[in-house]
Amino acid sequence: MKLFDVYPLYDVTPVSATGSKVIDDKGKEYLDLYGGHAVISIGHSHPHYVKRIHTQLDQIGFYSNAVKNPLQGQLASKLGQLSDCDDYQLFLCNSGAEANENALKLASFKTGKSRVIAFNNGFHGRTSAAVAVTDNSAINAPLNQQQKVSFLALNDLGVFTNEIKKGDVCAVIIEAIQGVGGLDEPTTNFFQNIAKLCKENEVMLIADEVQAGFGRSGKFFAFQHHKIQPDIISIAKGMGNGFPIGGVLIHKKIKASYGMLGTTFGGNHLACAASLAVLEVIEKENLIQHTKDISAYFKEKAVSIPSVKRIKGRGLMLGLEFDFEVAELRKKLIYDHHIFTGGAKNKKVLRILPALNIDETAIDTFFIALQKALA
Ligand SMILES: Cc1ncc(COP(=O)(O)O)c(C=O)c1O
Repeated sequence: MKLFDVYPLYDVTPVSATGSKVIDDKGKEYLDLYGGHAVISIGHSHPHYVKRIHTQLDQIGFYSNAVKNPLQGQLASKLGQLSDCDDYQLFLCNSGAEANENALKLASFKTGKSRVIAFNNGFHGRTSAAVAVTDNSAINAPLNQQQKVSFLALNDLGVFTNEIKKGDVCAVIIEAIQGVGGLDEPTTNFFQNIAKLCKENEVMLIADEVQAGFGRSGKFFAFQHHKIQPDIISIAKGMGNGFPIGGVLIHKKIKASYGMLGTTFGGNHLACAASLAVLEVIEKENLIQHTKDISAYFKEKAVSIPSVKRIKGRGLMLGLEFDFEVAELRKKLIYDHHIFTGGAKNKKVLRILPALNIDETAIDTFFIALQKALA
């Protein structure tokens, strides 16, 4: 059987990895500044992570959500403590799209309404409602287009106010830093006003923290830079450092009932062990402070490169904007300099999403290579 050919592939075959280094099948070493789409949060094969998953696997890897699994409660407590989100309840699932799917469903259950406000260039996943609120017609099948969604410009408060006042909106879904779109952000004024308008109009505010969450922005959640409180928060990528896990943080004002949400695999023993290991490393190694420090170091270096027109993003969710499309530059970086970086919907943005424990030496290596690749 052949694979369903949906991914254009770089000609690289990784076979092992540690920290921010990836080794291919020919023994060539790569510097990973992309973490496989912002997934690698504590570095590849972190010893604590490997040990915790091994130990868990020796005990029990999976049982369904029909029985008690104390690891889920431990994960919820640790997450509440580190994120300062103790007023929320946790539902565990398997991916970012599934987290958003459940978040949107909850908003609709809670409000009895069905239209969603989403934003231009937003990305929320590829499943039914998640893809419908994603601004990319190429991945939105006729089936998905049946959902009622209004895409608005970020930071246009007038248009937003008109839309939300129509009375049929169940949810507003927003990324505090747009990932796939190219690192654009709502202003604090816009974010605070939409949070207020959501409250006044009984609309659920969903913060999609699938990419920006788990410390990547230099705070546990990126919306925390704006001092707002969403009703629902979706999480995934950095949560499992590569182990598939997602989740939804649901404000305590939204009451659960049996059967309202569900999943076979979500919250299994191995996934919980992986995510607990991530949180323990973030805490023990003080990775959120490190993220802020290394981000400042990166930005300082980036300003000295004349062809970088704009430095976008926060923490280690960064974008370098050029006045040309970066596809060729990414190829040079990967094939000539052995560095993984990312692209975005905005084709002039080079995305940098390293592990949160990357060091200054790796950043220096990147900038030396970037200068050579640009020469
Ligand atoms: C902000 C955001 N939300 C949701 C998703 C979808 O996550 P997944 O690919 O795990 O379904 C992504 C993936 O890139 C994302 O960046």
